Amino acid sequence: MYNSSNTKHLQQQSKYFLEHINDEKKIIHNIDDLRKVLRFHEYRYYILNDPLLSDYEYDQLYKLLEKTEKENPKLITKDSPTQRVGSSLNEGFQTVQHLVPMLSLENSYNAGDLIDWDRKARELTKLENIEYCIEPKFDGASISLIYENDLLVRAATRGDGVEGEDITNNIKQIRSIPLSAPFSGYGIQQIEIRGEVIMSKKSFEKYNDWLVEQGQSALANPRNAASGSLRMKDPKEVSRRNLEAFLYHVSYYTKDDRIKMAYDSKNKKPIISHPSSVNLLATHSGMLQMLWECGFRSPQKEKQVVRGIDEVIKHVHDFEDMRDTLPYEIDGMVVKVNDLALQDEMGMTTHHPRWAIAFKFKARQATTKLRSIEFQVGRTGAVTPVAKLDPVYIGGVTVSSISVHNEEYIKEKDLKIGDSVLIERAGDVIPQIVKSLSELRDGTEAEIQFPTHCPVCGSKLFKEETEAVWRCINIECEAQVVERIIHFVSKDAMDIKSFGEANVRKFYELKLIKDVPGIYHLDFDTISQLEGFGKKSIDNLHAAIEASKQQPLNRLIYALGIRFVGETTAKTLANAVESLFDLENKSEEELQELEDVGIKVAKSVYQFFHNKENIAMLHQLQEAGLQFNNEKRETIAAGGLAGQTFLFTGTLAKLKRSEAETLAEQHGGKIASGVSAKLNYLVVGEDAGSKLEKAKKINTIKIITEDEFLKLVQ
Ligand code: IVH
Repeated sequence: MYNSSNTKHLQQQSKYFLEHINDEKKIIHNIDDLRKVLRFHEYRYYILNDPLLSDYEYDQLYKLLEKTEKENPKLITKDSPTQRVGSSLNEGFQTVQHLVPMLSLENSYNAGDLIDWDRKARELTKLENIEYCIEPKFDGASISLIYENDLLVRAATRGDGVEGEDITNNIKQIRSIPLSAPFSGYGIQQIEIRGEVIMSKKSFEKYNDWLVEQGQSALANPRNAASGSLRMKDPKEVSRRNLEAFLYHVSYYTKDDRIKMAYDSKNKKPIISHPSSVNLLATHSGMLQMLWECGFRSPQKEKQVVRGIDEVIKHVHDFEDMRDTLPYEIDGMVVKVNDLALQDEMGMTTHHPRWAIAFKFKARQATTKLRSIEFQVGRTGAVTPVAKLDPVYIGGVTVSSISVHNEEYIKEKDLKIGDSVLIERAGDVIPQIVKSLSELRDGTEAEIQFPTHCPVCGSKLFKEETEAVWRCINIECEAQVVERIIHFVSKDAMDIKSFGEANVRKFYELKLIKDVPGIYHLDFDTISQLEGFGKKSIDNLHAAIEASKQQPLNRLIYALGIRFVGETTAKTLANAVESLFDLENKSEEELQELEDVGIKVAKSVYQFFHNKENIAMLHQLQEAGLQFNNEKRETIAAGGLAGQTFLFTGTLAKLKRSEAETLAEQHGGKIASGVSAKLNYLVVGEDAGSKLEKAKKINTIKIITEDEFLKLVQ
């Protein structure tokens, strides 16, 4: 779909749009190109993982399209990148019929199973050896998409295989699924495609961190996270989960003769927009390539075409060895007969096609004994039960303790001390207890008693009605203090490199640090006498602590560890104030007016800033020299150009148009969309045309040169 010449062209167009961001007429005139440009960048980002624009530039272009469409609703198209955002909630899901039933796959577990399957396939086809296409078996939730005349018209869940549910609105949130795709280039009018919605290991961890931060239980694995997303009521919630999709099967398509027969009358021959399309549609691997060329994430790079079952066996084992290096979960491989005509000949049972088989990887499960439960106190006082197990080797690591989240979870899994338990580890993901093996009990097992008092400081534990966790609310509780310091120095917070959890614990034990402000008053002389602290590591630590004083306000807010305030909310809060202490003066209602700040978050922020100890701690941090002001806002507020509007025309000698505009904005100015009486300054470069003429007629407009403008922003 994209080659080096149109890539260059689209990149040039992106720059063009960025430079003409205020030229309404040009944008309206070229709005289709703007959409193409945005689709191209989505493809670079979500399919190739190789973006060509910064997030900021992409956002600018996206907002430009959004604004232009809002002002000119007639120009909106169904496949515009802005049309992913579902504004309304899903009101139940309509049942829909699949064009072709969604079958399951036969399973195999070892080389012997594969050899048997290949023998049957050869008997059936009377062939000596068969060409197979092998691809990963993605561990997610299956979906079915229909495109008509290049437009995505429906997305459905698998359901019972014959009927599923219409989840189009939710699927549109997945950026790796194009809203339109050039199937007509292959002569295809209607097409049904199958695939799997997955959540990458990284997104899964991030999402779980967020859930825990919100006081909810973590999800067991990426598969559950993906499948639980498809039927969510709020499409925005789906968007938050950062889902991806692999498309691996074309179950049905119709060809449009008009497309196929399009004729080039000048050269007197049919136009085949894709010369290779005829061949591509004959094999499964060709179909994967066609999907890839149409902008889908198909297993084009992961697939392997081989001849004969010996090659298959070798390949699936090789792939299993590198399974942990993949960014997403797979639970096996799928082997498919590559020739589609041969597939038709082999047919299917009511349960599965005869031309495909799944090779399941070894389950990463094991059984062990649950010996005891340790109750750990976290940064927010949450008491988490952790199951201590007889160490067991599973999926490449030895596991001896697993979090069991909360009291309800323990009840749900019916866990008792002394139980044999089945545990599972999915890839890099944290191990989970699947269930207790109650049939193996001998009567010596003991109920798990949840403590009524904090295991660290002894104060009484509390639980809110709407929550599953018990909490220690003594903010001086040692365990919480240590966890708060660990969070404060962590990478996503103040990022004090070379501090780390181990050092926090060590310094705390040695009474070298007792609270967060203590980070900025460490006694380096004493530390230099500790084992393992040479001059170099002390210098590094010192420098990292000093550097952290310059961290922007949003990081500081996140580092404070206010309940429910993750990185995004911290940014929102930082942007809403000029100085951190402004938050002290905001009411819960005012806080709730901020984007994505609900009742719970507002309450928590309000409480934090109305707690004497917290305010005292903030004063200490301010005295230590941390960045309490929102730098960006300060320049704008103090900017000498506040309230003034600017327009640039002609070619500037020193600045690019976009740079000049940013500069004006950074100093508080606004960019006008055209010459009108509201305009304060017209900055004129070389070859200025009609704008200059028009401005000359309005005597309130100041007409200045680029140098004069630069003086204004000095
Ligand atoms: S082909 C008619 N290919 O595994 C053949 N399925 O256990 C349709 N799956 O229901 C399936 N990766 O949800 C196929 N590369 C892949 C797959 C795959 C994952 C899922 C699919 C299917 C299930 C069967």
